[in-house]
Amino acid sequence: MPLCPLRQILDEARKGAYGVGAYNVNNMEQIQAIMQAARDTASPLIIQASRGALQYTNFTYLKHLMMAAVEDNPDLPIALHLDHGPDLDLCKRAIEIGFTSVMIDGSIDYDTETPDGKHPPRSLQDNIRVTREVVDYAHSRGVSVEGELGTLGGIEEDTKTDHVLLTDPDEVQQFCEHTGVDALALAIGTSHGAYKFKHEPTLAMELISECRRRVPETALVMHGSSSVPKELVDEINKYGGNMPGAMGVPIPAIQEGIRRGIQKVNVDTDGRLVVTGTVRRVFAEKPGEFDPRKYLGPAREALAKLIASKMRDFGTAGHASDYQPKTLDEMKAFYAGQG
Ligand code: G3H
Ligand code: 13P
Ligand code: ZN
Repeated sequence: MPLCPLRQILDEARKGAYGVGAYNVNNMEQIQAIMQAARDTASPLIIQASRGALQYTNFTYLKHLMMAAVEDNPDLPIALHLDHGPDLDLCKRAIEIGFTSVMIDGSIDYDTETPDGKHPPRSLQDNIRVTREVVDYAHSRGVSVEGELGTLGGIEEDTKTDHVLLTDPDEVQQFCEHTGVDALALAIGTSHGAYKFKHEPTLAMELISECRRRVPETALVMHGSSSVPKELVDEINKYGGNMPGAMGVPIPAIQEGIRRGIQKVNVDTDGRLVVTGTVRRVFAEKPGEFDPRKYLGPAREALAKLIASKMRDFGTAGHASDYQPKTLDEMKAFYAGQG
């Protein structure tokens, strides 16, 4: 079975009222762990790679690792998605190596840099223009596209704004109609990384419901959705780490987001935490260990368990065989028919 278009996975999730995690990867062990979790829970899945992940894996390694994942798991619908694509060029390169979906992060102008090294947010019209270019290119090849309205914290903290700009629901319909995106990332008060909040989080949940009403056919995406579980941070700190004040989005808040209309739930940080904590524990318990398999193996196992629990919590579990993945050619015909 080839890689599946993101659009189909998210359409099915919308029909079935469940969420699908989109898990970031940079290496073989992370890919294997996520595949294991999907097999254990019979889940469709989205694997995503950032620009940094593509650079780290020199593009080619990521491509072939994903081909191995597909070969090893012929019965699972798997979408391969570019996370936070900065421009058309990187989206094109990702599509060339087989990605079935790309995100164009048109909310930020990565081409412009202020003297303090920050990037300004783009106007709505400019965001529509760059996103539309990517949609035209991708859809003519059957590839799905995610756009973004508003800004998050974390990796987008290098934007010029000092505060997070929540998505304006009045812009959502215009953006989706003019760009034709399959999925829209909403800024609802989350941020990337392990330090999302100083106190209990308040997220703009009503904004999700409002956007769902305005664009009933577009998949909605929640970035910055790691929960930063206390036990994972405690394990890191117990074995020599130093992560005071780390805090994430509680699982019940993500579940509420899914009930209100989120389909795609982006998770990277929690995977990093569990790998780091496990490696630290092995090193602390066995200071003489120097075989990478002896610490990367347990890290891979712990990551698989964590992702499997998210697949159950987001409602993805059990949906792997609900449908037959479409080909990119079928999607190409679908988009062409949309006019
Ligand atoms: O949204 C960002 C992801 O966590 C990817 O992070 O750019 O460090 O790979 P990265
Ligand atoms: P976290 O940092 O909360 O895992 O968010 C990841 C993300 O949004 C990737 O696009
Ligand atoms: Zn993100």
